[in-house]
Amino acid sequence: MNTPKRYLITAALPYANGLKHIGHLAGAYLPADIYVRYLKAQKRDVVFVCGSDEHGTAIPIQATKEGTTAQAIIDKYHPIIEQNFKDLGIEFDIYHRTSDPLHHETASAFFKDLEAKGDLETKTSEQYFDEATSTFLADRYIKGTCPNCSHPEAYGDQCEKCGKSLSPEELINPVSTLSGQAPIKKETTHWYLPLNKHEDFLRQWILNDHAKDWRAAVVGQCKSWIDGGLLPRAVTRDLDWGVKVPLASGAGKVLYVWFDAPIGYISATKQWALNNGKDWTPYWNDKETKLVHFIGKDNIVFHCIIFPIILKAHGGYILPSNVPANSFLNLEGEKLSTSRNWAIWLHEYLEDFKGQEDSLRYVLCATAPESKDTDFTWKDFQARNNNELVAIFGNFINRVIVLTNKYWDGIVPPQNDLEDYDKEVLEKLKEFPEKIGSSIEKFRFREALQELIGLARLGNKYLADTEPWKLKKINEKRTETIIHISLQIAASLSILSHPFLPFSSKKLKDMLNLNDVNWDDAKNYNLCIGKQINKAELLFSKIEDETIEKQIKKLK
Ligand code: MF3
Ligand code: ZN
Repeated sequence: MNTPKRYLITAALPYANGLKHIGHLAGAYLPADIYVRYLKAQKRDVVFVCGSDEHGTAIPIQATKEGTTAQAIIDKYHPIIEQNFKDLGIEFDIYHRTSDPLHHETASAFFKDLEAKGDLETKTSEQYFDEATSTFLADRYIKGTCPNCSHPEAYGDQCEKCGKSLSPEELINPVSTLSGQAPIKKETTHWYLPLNKHEDFLRQWILNDHAKDWRAAVVGQCKSWIDGGLLPRAVTRDLDWGVKVPLASGAGKVLYVWFDAPIGYISATKQWALNNGKDWTPYWNDKETKLVHFIGKDNIVFHCIIFPIILKAHGGYILPSNVPANSFLNLEGEKLSTSRNWAIWLHEYLEDFKGQEDSLRYVLCATAPESKDTDFTWKDFQARNNNELVAIFGNFINRVIVLTNKYWDGIVPPQNDLEDYDKEVLEKLKEFPEKIGSSIEKFRFREALQELIGLARLGNKYLADTEPWKLKKINEKRTETIIHISLQIAASLSILSHPFLPFSSKKLKDMLNLNDVNWDDAKNYNLCIGKQINKAELLFSKIEDETIEKQIKKLK
């Protein structure tokens, strides 16, 4: 496969209506960050965009809950979410916001363009209207009895008790959550994107062209949407929070949040270009750009069907090369839930586990829901941290660095003559950058991380087999060789761990005095003999039972 000329990588824009938990991190942001860090270590041309999704009914609903305004809600959550990501080492090139005027302009222009070209249709229908507040009611603003399970508090789009998706018309005895009164039906006109007109394109593009290189679950979900019969989808709403419909006939209406939000990736790229004196256009217009959307599986239809139709209808834009959507992460065997507070919140983890950001990244990558839902448990988190990061990776590094300091005051010893076993280890070492890289390029991050731990295991085993601490007095030259090779393995680990464990990778590079290294340097790092390394610093620390029990208690 040819190396793309440049990359534009996106991670789903999180709603700025509340704090984020480990499910969000594992679903989109962590895999995207690993991918981007790898590409950048390969010196590829990459832009990584994200930002807050600040429209939709989720925002004003949260405002009502907190007794404040929609604007105050986004201004509260946007900076916290941004900081939490940063603290976890998620390194976006830009973290933009959809409330930004640049985004409003960009999204409006898209709508106008599609409307002018006849790619949208209008339709008048009756919708629920609250006379007390004189507003049309979005699905989430209507409550009633679930026709499926008789739960009295079901919403107009879903019953949270039985999980069934609903339309407001199906609710028994609907009431407005704004006034508590029964709504009336009133006529309203909306713009629709006729998904049905693009069926042939979608069949060809997804079910044929990408049948093999996209994840099976993603293609499968798209197939069931397409086979189920695509319908025109409303892209405007009667709401006063969002991007205004840029037509006189659309007064009082805004764009549907799922119309404007993905365009936010484009606005973010424009803002990044402005900030950095670059041209944004090749990232979206040039066929040699590889566009990849990292999302959770609940976002598949928007990124694989609706947004591509918008881009194609507009013309001049590339389509995603891949959409590696993840399944869901559960917590201790149960679905993560914001409303039930069944979650590990990022801000709380950051507070309770200062300096152990990489441990969370490690475990979430090792158990990532890449092909099916997976489960996070605190006990597994502890076991992986203690048995893998501490006992294998950390232990190996600590022994090598300590021995180098103890025997030669931290001066890198020469390699001398090699025995067969040394050659064998060096041969194996050479394969890692390629193996890890190719797994990452295929979006198999769990597999890539397994390989990385395999390298730490190789180092650990090499030391255990050769026992340099027993040889120092008898055979100085042999001891030098063993430590030299071990330092080479340590250098490779510092380079190859960077996408997954950026904080530890940096610490290790500092210990070894390495800077400006390339991915392929990890094949056999050319150590400067006689160079001084630094004192050993703890890379990972053991997590005690007590700490874990506290966390489990906190959940319940
Ligand atoms: N805010 C949405 C969510 O959290 C994701 C939006 S992705 C975008 O599920 F493409 F629309 F931006
Ligand atoms: Zn129900």
